[in-house]
Amino acid sequence: MSNITFKTKPDGKLTGRLRVPGDKSISHRAIMLGSIAEGTTQVTGFLNGDDCIATMNAFRAMGVEIEENSATELSIHGVGMKGLKAPEKELDMGNSGTAMRLLTGLLSGQAFDSVLVGDKSLSTRPMNRIIKPLKNMGGGFETEEGGRPPLRIKGGRQLKGVHYDLPIASAQVKSAILLAGLYAEGETSVTEPGITRDHTERMLRGFGYDVKTTGDRGQHISLQGGGKLTASRIDVPADISSAAFFMVGASIAEGSDLTLEHVGINPTRTGVIDILKLMGADITLENQQEVGGEPVADIRIRSAQLKGINIPEELVPLAIDEFPVIFIAAACATGETVLTGAEELRVKESDRIQVMADGLNNCGIDARATADGIIIKAGQLTAGTVDSHGDHRIAMAFSIAGLRANGSISINDCANVNTSFPDFVDLASGAGLGIS
Ligand code: S3P
Repeated sequence: MSNITFKTKPDGKLTGRLRVPGDKSISHRAIMLGSIAEGTTQVTGFLNGDDCIATMNAFRAMGVEIEENSATELSIHGVGMKGLKAPEKELDMGNSGTAMRLLTGLLSGQAFDSVLVGDKSLSTRPMNRIIKPLKNMGGGFETEEGGRPPLRIKGGRQLKGVHYDLPIASAQVKSAILLAGLYAEGETSVTEPGITRDHTERMLRGFGYDVKTTGDRGQHISLQGGGKLTASRIDVPADISSAAFFMVGASIAEGSDLTLEHVGINPTRTGVIDILKLMGADITLENQQEVGGEPVADIRIRSAQLKGINIPEELVPLAIDEFPVIFIAAACATGETVLTGAEELRVKESDRIQVMADGLNNCGIDARATADGIIIKAGQLTAGTVDSHGDHRIAMAFSIAGLRANGSISINDCANVNTSFPDFVDLASGAGLGIS
């Protein structure tokens, strides 16, 4: 499967209306919380991509019955806080950092041992960032060198609530600690250095669990262990991280006018809109409403001449997954775009700073990787060959670049697009992108 190649054709534009697949972060959390809740949780808009399927398979392996009423509609028969059963074999998290980190938190409070494994990319990603605070809480782990997977989690330990000052702005670390905190004695609390996505907190509240958020920026989050979750109904909005490809595509392709329907616009996720607007994008939000505790809107994008900017560092955690395609916007703007304070990009599904710099260079753009960011000089994108390093967002970012390249871009190793965006090629071609 790893040898799928995308080829783009120049001169497309994006028009019409479309709905991108469900939010990945919310879909993972729906399975996790639905599984340990009491009662049946109904989910609509579920992201039926490989990452969330890995999470679903893990909970099935721990005895949870999950019915797939359609590809995007699930009934999760929750087993309660203490109802999970020991899995018979190791749990395969595939390419998914979210699945591995959040599950490690949740599993550290169970009565049984478990082992989490992942693919080549996931097996090189840093896990000490969760192992360290979870050990402080009393969790037991064995890992490969440097805290790398496989992660062997010892069960049967009574966790204790702690306070943890997060050294990095990471929703995955925050969530792993909060999920462990459900099983801990007393209060578990974290303080974030920068605001990160708050889907865990919102969804816990949706399942009737009290989570406190305090501080002038909402940076202190706490909960008491030992409560219970009550089944809920979850309408997963379209993923703003998937929508971002089309926001940039419609901005850079002349003559575009595209509306993306029912997109999640949780304020901890909308950095991409802010950054594109600072660059001069024409983006409007229509039909804003709140659905199941998460704000959603239709997003209309019309093409615009973008300009290079210095990206404000406080927006980095709010747009952390969207930088590959933001770099494509920068290449198609005027002048220079500078990103700093984004070293986290080096430990995503690939080293997104280096892989994007290399890909942009291969397509005629002057882009220079720095330790914590990138400097991109706008220019004419040309034909070229790009290695996505199996990173879904790199593959889709260069697909979008095809709209402005003066020849065809070939993108290698694209199978992992299925982790977050099944049917990307069909949906994108339907809107006017030349891709096969
Ligand atoms: C995610 C958090 C982010 C993001 C990832 C999904 C989540 O990671 O990059 O794709 O669902 O909590 P970090 O919080 O580690 O930056």
